[in-house]
Amino acid sequence: SSNQQWGGRFSEGVDAFVARFTASIDFDRRLYLHDIQGSVAHAQMLHQAGILSEDELNAIISGLEGILEDIEQGRIDWSIELEDIHMNIEARLTDRIGAAGKKLHTGRSRNDQVATDIRLWLRDEIDAISEELKRLQEGLLDVAERESDTIMPGFTHLQTAQPVTFGHHLMAWYEMLVRDYERLQDCRKRVNISPLGAAALAGTTYPIDREFTASALGFERPSRNSLDSVSDRDFAIEFCAAGALIMTHLSRMSEELVLWTSAQFNFIDLPDRFCTGSSIMPQKKNPDVPELVRGKTGRVNGHLVSLLTLMKSQPMAYNKDNQEDKEPLFDTVDTLKDCLRAFADMVPHVQARKENMLEAARRGFSTATDLADYLVRQGMPFRNAHEVVGKAVAFGIQEGRDLSEMTLVELQVFSDTIKQDVFDVLTLEGSVSARNHLGGTAPEQVRQAVLNARNTL
Ligand code: ARG
Repeated sequence: SSNQQWGGRFSEGVDAFVARFTASIDFDRRLYLHDIQGSVAHAQMLHQAGILSEDELNAIISGLEGILEDIEQGRIDWSIELEDIHMNIEARLTDRIGAAGKKLHTGRSRNDQVATDIRLWLRDEIDAISEELKRLQEGLLDVAERESDTIMPGFTHLQTAQPVTFGHHLMAWYEMLVRDYERLQDCRKRVNISPLGAAALAGTTYPIDREFTASALGFERPSRNSLDSVSDRDFAIEFCAAGALIMTHLSRMSEELVLWTSAQFNFIDLPDRFCTGSSIMPQKKNPDVPELVRGKTGRVNGHLVSLLTLMKSQPMAYNKDNQEDKEPLFDTVDTLKDCLRAFADMVPHVQARKENMLEAARRGFSTATDLADYLVRQGMPFRNAHEVVGKAVAFGIQEGRDLSEMTLVELQVFSDTIKQDVFDVLTLEGSVSARNHLGGTAPEQVRQAVLNARNTL
């Protein structure tokens, strides 16, 4: 039999394999709520334009409400023959309310319908993701405040560089997430445009009111060009790019958490409930959550590339290619929500092993720059000071002692301008609290940064 929605010009039904191959109902059914919202707004507009009677409108709305309830109660058998969520719902509506159901699609195409649905759906998901991101940010601020005095080694090239405060390190993570949040909000502006009324590609001959449907659906405005409206998916690509950056940031955090939980670092402890054991090695406690988040970054990066590639050679206007936009987009959203949730739940419970962090900072000559800066304050040019301290470090490596563990006499071998007060700058506490300017690692700056962040979050 021929398809009930478009069978008119066909002399035979679709091949069973082709029906399965071209159908999207298996995945696009998750758009049901937004498809119904879009249909309600469209029907209201058709009524205002005199195309649907009051009775027809009421029948359509209560029919759609009944379908929504059926879907949410799991009382729906989706049909592959009806291809996608749009035709499944429309067919069901006609089954329920008869002739009026057949009028719903007046002045509309699945092309503007699907573009509308994705935008409505993605707008809600962006809001949910933004909330989860905020929850993680709040957790980071709490830990950063708690650890504003905690000293750890700061690294460049993963070699001990200078001491930093753990709170400062966590605030570096926080800053990455601030930009991620802004990117989501920026992307949302371009998502929140209504394509409804573009119809198949050229607009429609009916006296439609696009402003009405746009505002009924909470869009900022109708789109300006019908061809662009049905073909453009750059809003989804942009979202995936923002998502890939979020995952990149979570992955960088994960990498550090994994390193820090290792016996070799032993900087932090993760609660048991965020870890798993080994089926063979009884001693193991593995940081699975950050590892898995790091791993899931790959699939989100992949989805971004999928969508870019999907779009790159499409002629105007709608092409069936675009049905392939959904799975990468959906999986990006699911992955982001899960990873952010895991991080927001876990981060507030990260326990710092302060003694180990301090000890590691002590071992790595992390105050060498402080000694050079001290010599510069005594009048030595920086390059000479660098050389002098380099020699002192070489001596320390040979002796197995840190700079602060040398005697004054030993240090004076390298420069006679060194006095007893040098030990004030060689301590780790002295080193971090001396970096007391905007963006510096001093505990006072960290507390101020947390305060400022709380006022803007
Ligand atoms: N399932 C389709 C999609 O996801 C809906 C639009 C189909 N339009 C069409 N003319 N075949 O893009």
